[in-house]
Amino acid sequence: ERIPQVEELLGKMTLEEKIGQLNLLTPGGGVATGSVVSEDVEAKIRAGNVGGIFGVSSPEKVRQAQELAVKNSRLGIPLLIGSDVIHGYKTTFPIPLGLSSSWDMDLIEETAKVAAREATADGINWNFSPMVDISRDPRWGRVAEGAGEDAYLGSQVARAMVRGYQQDDLTRPETMIATVKHLALYGASEGGRDYNRVDMSRTKMFNEYLPPYKAAIDEGAASVMTSFNDIDGVPASGNKWLLTDLLRERWGFEGFVVSDYTSVNEMIAHGMGDLQDVSALAIKAGLDMDMVGEGFLTTLQKSVEEGRVSEEEITIAARRILEAKHKLGLLDDPYKYSDESRPERDILTDEHRKTARKAAASSFVLLKKHNNTLPLSKNAKIALVGPLANDKNNMLGTWAPTGDPSLSIPILEGFRNVAPNATVTYAKGANISDDPEYAKKVNVFGPRIEISEESPEELLKEAMDVVENADVVVAVVGEATEMSGEAASRTEISIPESQKKLIRELSQSGKPVVLVLMSGRPLTIPEEMQLPVSILQVWHPGVEAGNAIADVVFGDINPSGKLTATWPHNVGQIPIYYGMRTTGRPAASEEFEKFKSNYLDSPIAPLLPFGYGLSYTNFEYSDVKVSDNTLNSNGEIIVSATVANTGEYDGEEVVQLYIHDKVRSITPPMKELKGFQKINLKAGESQTVEFNISVEDLKFYNGNLEYVFEPGEFEFFVAGSSDGEFQGTFNLEE
Ligand code: IFM
Repeated sequence: ERIPQVEELLGKMTLEEKIGQLNLLTPGGGVATGSVVSEDVEAKIRAGNVGGIFGVSSPEKVRQAQELAVKNSRLGIPLLIGSDVIHGYKTTFPIPLGLSSSWDMDLIEETAKVAAREATADGINWNFSPMVDISRDPRWGRVAEGAGEDAYLGSQVARAMVRGYQQDDLTRPETMIATVKHLALYGASEGGRDYNRVDMSRTKMFNEYLPPYKAAIDEGAASVMTSFNDIDGVPASGNKWLLTDLLRERWGFEGFVVSDYTSVNEMIAHGMGDLQDVSALAIKAGLDMDMVGEGFLTTLQKSVEEGRVSEEEITIAARRILEAKHKLGLLDDPYKYSDESRPERDILTDEHRKTARKAAASSFVLLKKHNNTLPLSKNAKIALVGPLANDKNNMLGTWAPTGDPSLSIPILEGFRNVAPNATVTYAKGANISDDPEYAKKVNVFGPRIEISEESPEELLKEAMDVVENADVVVAVVGEATEMSGEAASRTEISIPESQKKLIRELSQSGKPVVLVLMSGRPLTIPEEMQLPVSILQVWHPGVEAGNAIADVVFGDINPSGKLTATWPHNVGQIPIYYGMRTTGRPAASEEFEKFKSNYLDSPIAPLLPFGYGLSYTNFEYSDVKVSDNTLNSNGEIIVSATVANTGEYDGEEVVQLYIHDKVRSITPPMKELKGFQKINLKAGESQTVEFNISVEDLKFYNGNLEYVFEPGEFEFFVAGSSDGEFQGTFNLEE
């Protein structure tokens, strides 16, 4: 449906002004993730050559920018003000992979809502989030930014984030446009190397990778960002099948599509022609806005004159940008997000910090329990060691450009806040890495890896001296922030050797040891899993890191996170994920069998499966059953299980339902998550959990990409992890 205000504006616009709306620039001040930063931005805004900017914040600066556009350009059209608000604005939440490990959709929505309140208070009206790229490759650094490996869970997270940012009402000044990114398949970059090519079958795409993008769009995300990679040999930003046939025609998307940073220009390197060619390719494919590269600005007019692009194609894109501005109410009030009283009131409030503390604690995954060391007594004598134990620079995690590391709570401070009667003595013990060259690569945005002047031997000795006088050791180890994230791919994903040495020594000290493990990705930790230590995975926890870790370590909060990405034994197992499709020669066990699908030198099972996570208490599952063995295509059945808390602590459990379609026209995944519920059980309590299943839950895209169900037998199980055994079956009938 056409919007009169937008049509009226379009009617007055010259071709050049329409092209101007398609241009997104960054005047610097944000994070430059490419080699180009925009120049002469002010002059371009005055000339009506800019539709939006990013990397600018604060009500004052945004007001100035809007004034430039509104008072100086001929038609006075206000700007979209973008930003990467990926896991919180100033109140930084855990990295998205961590947040997804909470399996708590209300909490995730709340974090997005807080992020929107803070960002809009600072002038932002358009967010480059949620990032919903499925990834099964922990070598890829950006696995940190998504919700892991599973399309079903990823879709729920995508929806929760869109709801949080947009809250179904973009006219409210506390909400901002959500951008689902990166369409599409960016998480499947070959070899886990960032910006690399992607090649994938359509059935895999449709069943396993595309659902989260679609879910975000169904939830109303008003914008989409393209990915850097190619799909079927055509880069996403110029891919008509992707941006028009799929996105518009099949999915019915009505918002606008923005490129990634200079991804239009990068099609030149992809081999798609010169700047004029690639810009024409992009607009004709259905791309509406060009981020930073200015290919649209500098070539589209010429392409129209030469008849390569029609004015109508440009009008369509300009209309979409203006419609977004209309949706936000900017056309009526360009200064909506420039209320100078808001930052003080809305940013980094105590409430927001409380949410950050809760979200962080909910994201932690207890990977290993040893001798009931955890939780610690609040009167214990603790040796707190490790390069991340008293550190502010690595708490926020990747893609937190609007956060302020200096505001984060280090673990040492958190321990003292939560357990003031404990004796906590700190020693660094090791560098994150001893390699200065590696440190240089990681320290692009600040001093993430600081190599001490003391030698590694001296650092280790200091730590062991502290350990000698303690009852218990807590070692905070793992990855620095920029060891994961964009352009931070690794071929080895173990804990760096400098820290492994410390861990080995600690584990032989005879003292109980807790490893608090920080990372932006699954790590290979087979050695550490064998050591006599407890392991708590905390990702990069955000601004409340230390307090949240202390809450869990001292037992005020019982850990309840579950992995959303498989942890491999070794890099050679990658890609490894729970939902692998069947093979004709499956290995029946971990025993090597010739001519079966297995390895000579590695197990086939992962080190830690998707859905896995322990608790201070124990949960037992019983009485798993289905209400009826037959499901009619217009009916519903209920799979239920009783879950009992048989331990001594109250706790939360993520109860998971998996199915397997035994016979179908394309090879099925061996297991598929189809439902989950996070429940709270007091010690000794039990609860029956029910999952309704209808035919909608059993549909898939067949070889013709039709969304269908096929009658036949399905297996199911309910468990606290994906590595359960099937417990029952039902038949789906026509
Ligand atoms: O939003 C990001 C994207 O995820 C990676 N390239 C840069 C964009 C804008 O900062």
